Amino acid sequence: MKTKILVTGGTGYIGSHTTVELQQAGYDVVIIDNLSNSNIKVLDGIERITGIRPDFVEGDVTDVATLRALFNRHPDIKGIINFAASKAVGESVRKPLMYYRNNLVGLINLLEVMPEFGVKGIVFSSSCTVYGEPDVNPIDETAPIKPATSPYGNTKQICEEIIADTIRAGAPFKSILLRYFNPVGAHPSAEIGELPIGVPQNLIPYLTQAAAGVRGELTVFGNDYATPDGTCIRDFIDVVDLAKAHVIAMRRMLDNADSAQLEVFNLGTGRGLSVLQLIESFERATGVKVPFHIGARREGDIEQIWAEPAKANNVLGWRAEVDIDDTMRNAWRWQLRQAAPQQ
Ligand code: UD1
Repeated sequence: MKTKILVTGGTGYIGSHTTVELQQAGYDVVIIDNLSNSNIKVLDGIERITGIRPDFVEGDVTDVATLRALFNRHPDIKGIINFAASKAVGESVRKPLMYYRNNLVGLINLLEVMPEFGVKGIVFSSSCTVYGEPDVNPIDETAPIKPATSPYGNTKQICEEIIADTIRAGAPFKSILLRYFNPVGAHPSAEIGELPIGVPQNLIPYLTQAAAGVRGELTVFGNDYATPDGTCIRDFIDVVDLAKAHVIAMRRMLDNADSAQLEVFNLGTGRGLSVLQLIESFERATGVKVPFHIGARREGDIEQIWAEPAKANNVLGWRAEVDIDDTMRNAWRWQLRQAAPQQ
């Protein structure tokens, strides 16, 4: 019997890559997604890679009745990976209540329902945004949590606290909080990848669309930061590496009786790359020039942040392995498979 896992937000960017890795590791996956920021065709891509079509429920985790119905149909679900959340920083400033509702209520519903159906563990998608502007880099899990600079960032902090409080109160399950740095790239098959709706706000989807000529020039937001080349530094982590960490985290919660009830891990490469270095990597890997110009700083951007991933390396036995040039090549192959998006 395969162990069954619920992946919320499983047709999204990280959720779809994680579903593939779970299936390839021998897990049975049920996805719930409201398709608010993803496309049902992602299921076809997953099936083409793994040969298995995940069970799919179109629904919203903020509706507890939908969740109970799902668990009644799948009472053998043992673990949850919770990706279902809104994630655009700028939008969260304009629509805070939507962010608090989607991100907090969804999680609360899952935590409430888990004991009713004997679910043993939940992986939560958190973000390095909880560290704010770090005092030192690389940053490890013991670094202080800084006040959030957007409702989106605040939901990540509050969700971490909700899980911690629930476990402290004696909840009969485990949780692993995964703090992602900057996930980029696509599956090497080019069957799944990032599918931003409208004008991409994040660097790589904008860069690949600009390189493909479906957007205007990329604006590099500021080159007067206190970094070697003046542009911001991030820890860009391949999405497949990131997905694999979820499988390991799930296995640890379900199969390792000695693991702590609540754990937190940074997921990054341990290497900071500047925005200009990333553009260079893309051009080196693909032979394609990125049209770009230097513009003003973007409000709210952090100057530099990269991970100390030693805890994930040592405790999970996980390590980011994909070379950044390969990641850029995969992002480009995925871009080339897309029809020109709506402007
Ligand atoms: C942002 C959020 C982070 C969230 C993540 C996922 C902030 C401060 N952080 O990460 O909390 O988890 O998105 O949605 O908003 N850049 C350009 N030109 C562009 C786009 C980006 O130069 O057109 C630069 C940015 O200034 C930044 C870097 O590229 O230095 C990465 O930007 P982005 O991909 O948006 O991610 P973060 O801002 O790091």
